[in-house]
Amino acid sequence: MRDFVVAQQVITIREVKAEDLKSVMSIQYKCFKDPYPLSLIRRLHIMHPDGFIVADVGGIVAGYLIGVIRWSNIGHVLAIAVEPAFQRQRLGTLLMNYIIDLFRKKGVKLVRLEVRKSNLGAQQFYKKLGFLERGEMPFYYEDGESAIAMELPLE
Ligand SMILES: CC(C)(COP(=O)(O)OP(=O)(O)OC[C@H]1O[C@@H](n2cnc3c(N)ncnc32)[C@H](O)[C@@H]1OP(=O)(O)O)[C@@H](O)C(=O)NCCC(=O)NCCS
Repeated sequence: MRDFVVAQQVITIREVKAEDLKSVMSIQYKCFKDPYPLSLIRRLHIMHPDGFIVADVGGIVAGYLIGVIRWSNIGHVLAIAVEPAFQRQRLGTLLMNYIIDLFRKKGVKLVRLEVRKSNLGAQQFYKKLGFLERGEMPFYYEDGESAIAMELPLE
């Protein structure tokens, strides 16, 4: 767990708890047209308790990130979202920096993620964190949209 003070508010980046999952679902519904079902969110919480993290702003869950490790040295960010009213206040950056630190400590050499081709805001966000575009994956999403694969090599 790690605390940050931003605009006089304490922001805690911490592991998700079972009672936070409702808030995670609510953020998902506001941010994505294809949210994960609650059953999958629950399974990810059970299977990856340390990579499923939230940004807690004074007791309010205002953002979340789900990161998993594959083949022992690839970190995969499955999802990240910040409540719309809290966007552009660095919560997304704090969540990504936390998971990147955790991945690094666990021996991850490369962080991967996919982002909708139309989601230029998120692509800008990832580029600011140092991610590089690694090509397009056609028909990646159920509605037929392509994904842009992005990667961040770790030292
Ligand atoms: C993408 C997302 C997680 C970013 O979280 P955030 O807390 O708003 O981002 P931050 O405040 O940490 O942004 C850091 C920097 O990233 C860039 N950035 C973030 N959002 C951006 C946007 N919509 N457009 C352009 N640049 C953006 C900016 O450079 C920003 O710095 P600035 O505000 O000083 O200009 C958030 O916008 C979100 O939840 N979006 C909806 C869900 C989503 O698209 N998730 C990603 C799916 S792959």
